[in-house]
Amino acid sequence: MDEENKLSRKTVLKAALAAGVAAPVALFGGPALARANAVGGTAPELTPACHDDDEPTMEQTEGPYFKPNSPERTNLVTPGTQGTRLTVTGYVFGRACLPVGRALLDFWQADVNGAYDNTGYTFRGHQYTDAQGAFTLSTIVPGLYPGRTRHIHVKVQAPGRPVLTTQLYFPGEPRNNTDTIFDARLLMTVRDNGSAKEAAFDFVLDVPQTPTSTRPTPTSATPPGGTSWAVGTAYAAGARVTYGGRGYVCLQAHTAQPGWEPPAVPALWRAE
Ligand SMILES: [Fe+2]
Repeated sequence: MDEENKLSRKTVLKAALAAGVAAPVALFGGPALARANAVGGTAPELTPACHDDDEPTMEQTEGPYFKPNSPERTNLVTPGTQGTRLTVTGYVFGRACLPVGRALLDFWQADVNGAYDNTGYTFRGHQYTDAQGAFTLSTIVPGLYPGRTRHIHVKVQAPGRPVLTTQLYFPGEPRNNTDTIFDARLLMTVRDNGSAKEAAFDFVLDVPQTPTSTRPTPTSATPPGGTSWAVGTAYAAGARVTYGGRGYVCLQAHTAQPGWEPPAVPALWRAE
């Protein structure tokens, strides 16, 4: 397959993903469920979904608009800020799925009009995870600017470790389909809450950790229901597959492509 065909195939696959927008309730059936419940007053799970076979969160380009020395703050909204209010919550984990406390998260994004503040620090801020590895960012849904789909930039760093630079994406955005930087592995789960939006994303850093307990290894002798996950297959929301001896339910329609294995894309697959 030549490069041109690869590109067109990828574009088609992205189009399939963009078209297959599932209901918000389905999007929150996965790892974000505990946190969604927590908003309603139910105690969150102590250990959110993170599996031993999770790959570290992928890196992406920093882009041209990063500025060092952002203020420390979890709220980027000030009086008079325009735009749809957005709360992003999540956890930072290491390779053994243990939380990383005091991890640095430095966020930057465009305003409602798709413009970055390159003279000041509007929509720029850094914060640290708590002892449970949790973070919360209060901001707005970033506006679009030419050439890109909707996204939030972030740098994440465990204490004394290398910096991970990446970007977070919104499901169901038409431009996900044409943005060559977009990757489904960086999709947040997003739902409406009145006039605001709530998003969730968990980072996995390539930080060595010593597990405190051993998990039972799934056995292939008693495979869960569903066929084996396969690249090129078009999956509908609710479809069941097995991957690595574990069962997964599809959360939104898409066509599988390399790198979108169920454990790697929590916005697309929920472990059973
Ligand atoms: Fe950007």
